[in-house]
Amino acid sequence: MTTKHRIIQVGSLAGSPSANQRLAEQYDVFELWKHPDRKQALAEHGKGVTAVVTSANFGANAELINALPDLKAICSWGVGYETIDVAAAKARGIQVSNTPDVLTDCVADLAWGLLIAGARRMGQGERFVRAGQWGQVHGSIPLGTRVSGKKLGILGLGRIGLAIARRGAGFDMEVRYHNRKPRADTDYGYEASLKDLAQWADFLVVATVGGAGTRHLVDREVLEALGPQGIIVNIARGPVIDEAALVAALEAGKLGCAALDVFEHEPKVPQALIQSDNAVLLPHIGSATRETRMAMEDLMLDNLRAFFETGQVITPAE
Ligand code: 8YV
Repeated sequence: MTTKHRIIQVGSLAGSPSANQRLAEQYDVFELWKHPDRKQALAEHGKGVTAVVTSANFGANAELINALPDLKAICSWGVGYETIDVAAAKARGIQVSNTPDVLTDCVADLAWGLLIAGARRMGQGERFVRAGQWGQVHGSIPLGTRVSGKKLGILGLGRIGLAIARRGAGFDMEVRYHNRKPRADTDYGYEASLKDLAQWADFLVVATVGGAGTRHLVDREVLEALGPQGIIVNIARGPVIDEAALVAALEAGKLGCAALDVFEHEPKVPQALIQSDNAVLLPHIGSATRETRMAMEDLMLDNLRAFFETGQVITPAE
């Protein structure tokens, strides 16, 4: 008889088709989220546990890491890991893995869906039809903005940013980007200043990592540089945009439209955005397709298995 390895699962992975079930089948899972006194639960059950499963949503802070004296690996379901204290993990030689690549296409697809929905007022049009207003009130919804042939700015030309950029070719768009440093391996135009990129672009897509280093990178100045006809799309992390400044810019007509999959204080969405026809709002569904969520689940489980079998995770967080 083989005994199952004991792991701690920080939160329920309800957005994954069968992650909870497969984890429970393969491991002796301690379900941390079911214990209101987390500190006490970790003190009582943490000894001897070498692996933790989490997601960007639940993270793994220094308190959790330091409460587990035998911890060696943190396997996260999802690509973003700004809520995992990587420095605290590194200090103890703990490996951190995420699920890169497998969600790149779906997140890039959703960025384009949001961009087109914003430009062509698809949400507003849908609300109009559903409300039975078509043909019953004078006129129609306001005119939208042409998408093809426009200028696409990308904040964060990483894996997902590149996939978004590549799709721009199909819309005959010129693409430029802003990163901390230019990439040597692409021909896309580099803008050293995010404000200059926003000034140049018709559409600005946020695809950068989250965390303290990118918080409020998109501020009032950047939004106003994008301008009254400009559209901002965010499929990355809510706090990258100063949401109060975003609301103010939309309300003042200084920004054309915001098409958002992520928000600063999820799941809270400012009332001003909910009421605005110049906003497209989605509930953080960038990776939420059956295929991609399954691939994320598989990769998270592969990382965990590899850690127990070889001592090394497969996709360490970079
Ligand atoms: C998940 C994500 O919904 O991978 C990410 O970083 O934002 C999404 O795919 C998220 O990880 C859930 O916590």
